[in-house]
Amino acid sequence: MMASIQKPSLLTGIRASGEIHLGNYLGAMKPAIARQDDYNCHLFIADLHGLTTSPPAEELRRNVRGIASAWLAAGLNPEKTIMWRQSDVAEVLVLSYVLSCVTSMGLLERAHSYKDAKSKDQVVKSGLFFYPVLMAADILLYDADFVPVGKDQAQHLEMTRDIATFFNETYGECLKLPREIIEKELALIPGTDGRKMSKSYGNGINIFDDEKQLKKQIMSIVTDSKGLADPKDPETCTIYQIYKLIVEPEKSNEMADRLKAGHYGYGDAKKLLLQSILETYDSMRQQYRYWMEHPKDLEEQLQMGAILARKKAQKMMERIKERVGL
Ligand code: ADP
Ligand code: TRP
Repeated sequence: MMASIQKPSLLTGIRASGEIHLGNYLGAMKPAIARQDDYNCHLFIADLHGLTTSPPAEELRRNVRGIASAWLAAGLNPEKTIMWRQSDVAEVLVLSYVLSCVTSMGLLERAHSYKDAKSKDQVVKSGLFFYPVLMAADILLYDADFVPVGKDQAQHLEMTRDIATFFNETYGECLKLPREIIEKELALIPGTDGRKMSKSYGNGINIFDDEKQLKKQIMSIVTDSKGLADPKDPETCTIYQIYKLIVEPEKSNEMADRLKAGHYGYGDAKKLLLQSILETYDSMRQQYRYWMEHPKDLEEQLQMGAILARKKAQKMMERIKERVGL
C-alpha cells in the first residue's frame, strides 16, 4: 500500500476592517481558493486584528459577516477548507503572549505599520505595536507552510519567521518557518486614487457592493486630464491597470490599443470596467448576498470551522506549553 502523502498546509487571514475589495480578492482570496485541492487550507477572519482601530462593535461584527460571506461566495469549500473567526480560537492569544516573550522591541519597532502610525503623530496603541506578534501566532499555531498574501504583508511574514527562529533558538526546534506566496502581477492592486487599494485609504473597488456604489467607486478612478481625442498611455492609466487583471488578454489589449489611438475617453473605459466586473463576478455577488441575508447559516459555518481550528490549535498549544514549561 502506498503511504498517503500529507498535503502542505496553507493559511491566510483577512483583517475585519471594512468591505472586501478587489485587492483583497485578487491578492489573497483567489490564490487561496485556487489551492483548496492541493493544500490543507486554513482561512480565517482576523477580527482581533480588526480591533486595533477600535471600530464600533456592530461595525466589526458586520465586517466579519461580510468577509465570511465573501470567502464562501469566492468558492470556499467547507468539506476541504477550514474557515473560522480568529477570536473563536482563544489559544492564539496564549501563543501570541508566549511569542512576545522571545520577541525584541527592536524587531517590532521596525514594522512598517508601527512606523507609519508613529510618523503621523498618532498615539500608537500597544495593540497595533503588538500586531505582528499576533499575526505570527495566527500562522505558527496552525503549522502553516504557505501564506498567500499581497506584497504589503511581506514584512509581517519575515517577522513571523524571525519570531519562530527566536523561539526555536530558545526552546529547541519546534515551529515551522512559513513562506509567503505573493503572485507577482497581483501583488499590489492599485486603488481608485492610484495608490495601493486599501480599506484604510477608502480607495477600494468593493466587488460585493451594490451596483450603484460600485459604479460610484469606478467613476471616481483618478485619471490625467487628457482630452477625448488625445492618445493615452495604458501603463499610467489606473482603469486599464485594473481592467487587465480581470479580463482575458485579448480584451485588455483591445482597451490598450484604443487608449493609445485616442478618441477613446476615460469615461468609456470606466464603463467597460464596470460592465466587466459585474459580468465576471455576477455569480459570486449573488452568493455573497445569499450569505449576508442568512446570518444564522453563516454563523453555523463559522462555528463548524472553529471546532476544527480549535482542535488543531489545542494540539499545537500542548506541544508549545510542554516546551516552555507551562
Ligand atoms: P486592507 O489593506 O484593505 O486593510 P488587508 O490588510 O485586510 O487589506 O489585507 C487582506 C489581504 O489582502 C492581505 O493578504 C493583503 O496583502 C491583501 N491585499 C490588500 N490590499 C491589496 C492590494 N491592493 N493588492 C494586493 N493584495 C492586497
Ligand atoms: N495582517 C493581515 C492584513 O492586514 C491580516 C492577517 C492577520 C493575516 N493574520 C494573518 C494574513 C495571518 C495572513 C496570515 O492583511
